[in-house]
Amino acid sequence: MSESIYTQATESTNHIRNLLPEQLKNPHVGIVCGSGLGGLAGMLDQELLFELSYEDIPHFPHSTVVGHAGKFVFGFLGERKTPVVVMVGRVHYFEGHSIQKVTFPTRVMKLLGIHTIIVTNAAGGLNTEFAVGDIVVLNDHINFPGLAGQHPLRGPNEEEFGIRFPTLSEAYDLPLRKQIHLSYKKLRLTSEKRKLHEGVYVFVSGPTSSFETRAECRFLRALGADVVGMSTVPEIIVARHCGIRVLAMSLVTNSAVLEPGPRGDSLLVAETDEEGLKCALEAGAASHEEVLETGAAAAKDLQGLVRQFIDDIAP
Ligand code: 6GU
Repeated sequence: MSESIYTQATESTNHIRNLLPEQLKNPHVGIVCGSGLGGLAGMLDQELLFELSYEDIPHFPHSTVVGHAGKFVFGFLGERKTPVVVMVGRVHYFEGHSIQKVTFPTRVMKLLGIHTIIVTNAAGGLNTEFAVGDIVVLNDHINFPGLAGQHPLRGPNEEEFGIRFPTLSEAYDLPLRKQIHLSYKKLRLTSEKRKLHEGVYVFVSGPTSSFETRAECRFLRALGADVVGMSTVPEIIVARHCGIRVLAMSLVTNSAVLEPGPRGDSLLVAETDEEGLKCALEAGAASHEEVLETGAAAAKDLQGLVRQFIDDIAP
């Protein structure tokens, strides 16, 4: 019989603990950096840091795409020197890992001792009130693959972590959401016009280089989603299952395209002449480059917000 997820997570945790310097062995908060948001690791106190590639941790999912999947960075963040573990880079479901593998690092962070997790991501805006560069505090989600069976808690329940049927109705911790709005207000001066919204995140499997089709975007919007992305929800479910408090934020890096095609979504569109093509391009299909660029510009504000928040919740 293969080892349980709990046994594997315990082995990974012991491996990490044995490598960590004494002062860094007990992180209080886990921070997951979304695409382009890894700069947060640079805000840690540079005096005492410890980095560990996922590749060097037993049972961790290995990246199937170019480069490295990422690393854990252990250190202290903010004026209050809160001990944190930062995930710079995450593995995605679309890379081909099982949803259980994608959420494995969250379980390891639990065993390392975190009580709170801050999950960030780059997402497409579906709510037309949201501008590119705005930040959205998640207050609920739609687990699209999960509703159809791709659920991180499917299979024998991992009793050591939590119960068979955890509730997700309070997954997005209200006191933490209230606090992030207050932390944001404190930083308003530096954040200029960047708005902080609340909204519903819909998790889709991906990958799609220009993200969802127009019809899919309208469909997701009609379901009640405000932002769309390819991560976060599995991690949050696993975090809630094992009792970690959750704060999650999306950086809107592009607007998902909701309008019908240049000639309406009719068969006529198939007859592509030069003018039709131009219209389609101008309508602004989301691209990976767009996501990365906006991420870079807005990342500083989001990172500053996370640091302020961590100081504000420090005991
Ligand atoms: Cl528009 N869709 C998805 N699935 N993920 C995204 C995105 C859109 N923008 C950033 N990430």
